[in-house]
Amino acid sequence: MRLAAAIASLALLAACDSGTEERDPVASTRAVQRAYVPVPPGAVPRGASAYAAALAPPGPELTPALLARGQERFNAFCSPCHGVSGRGDGPVVSRGFAPPPSYYEERVRALEPAQIVQVITHGKGRMFPYADRVPPEDRWAIAHYVKELQARGAGAASGQGSATP
Ligand code: HEC
Repeated sequence: MRLAAAIASLALLAACDSGTEERDPVASTRAVQRAYVPVPPGAVPRGASAYAAALAPPGPELTPALLARGQERFNAFCSPCHGVSGRGDGPVVSRGFAPPPSYYEERVRALEPAQIVQVITHGKGRMFPYADRVPPEDRWAIAHYVKELQARGAGAASGQGSATP
């Protein structure tokens, strides 16, 4: 009786082992292979419409908090080249990077906030896009802060360099 039980349990153990050892090593890989399914026409990545909506003019309401956020983000991301005053005299330029135009040039003064948002999103000429570092709401905040700088005038803002616009 005891012998029979021992044989039976050995048989069970053996069954356990053989279950894993005999498994076809490539079976699990095959199981996750799927046929290539082309992306259907008109498909958009998840969240794309919310992203587009966040970038659409007129953008978030202009509040003191938004402007303050814009100033903080501008100083972090834009002033290295454009200078804290927007004259295009940031420290990166003093180390040899192509100088951006002053924000007080007529052409740049004429830019709408939405156009500045576009420049941040896509870059322009030698300026890289900042879409991966500056989320849409912050792009509007920065754009409004740039307009605020321009409205105050080049003389009102204290720059890092002594260059005049
Ligand atoms: C690495 C340096 C650099 C940084 C950082 C930078 N820019 Fe620029 N920016 C440039 C240069 C250079 C140009 C001129 C591009 C050209 O016309 O070739 C420029 C041009 C611009 C213009 C003028 C576009 C036009 O129509 O002429 C705006 C507006 C602008 N930048 C906004 C920003 C904002 C806002 C940020 C921060 C999010 C920023 N830039 C960060 C270098 C920089």
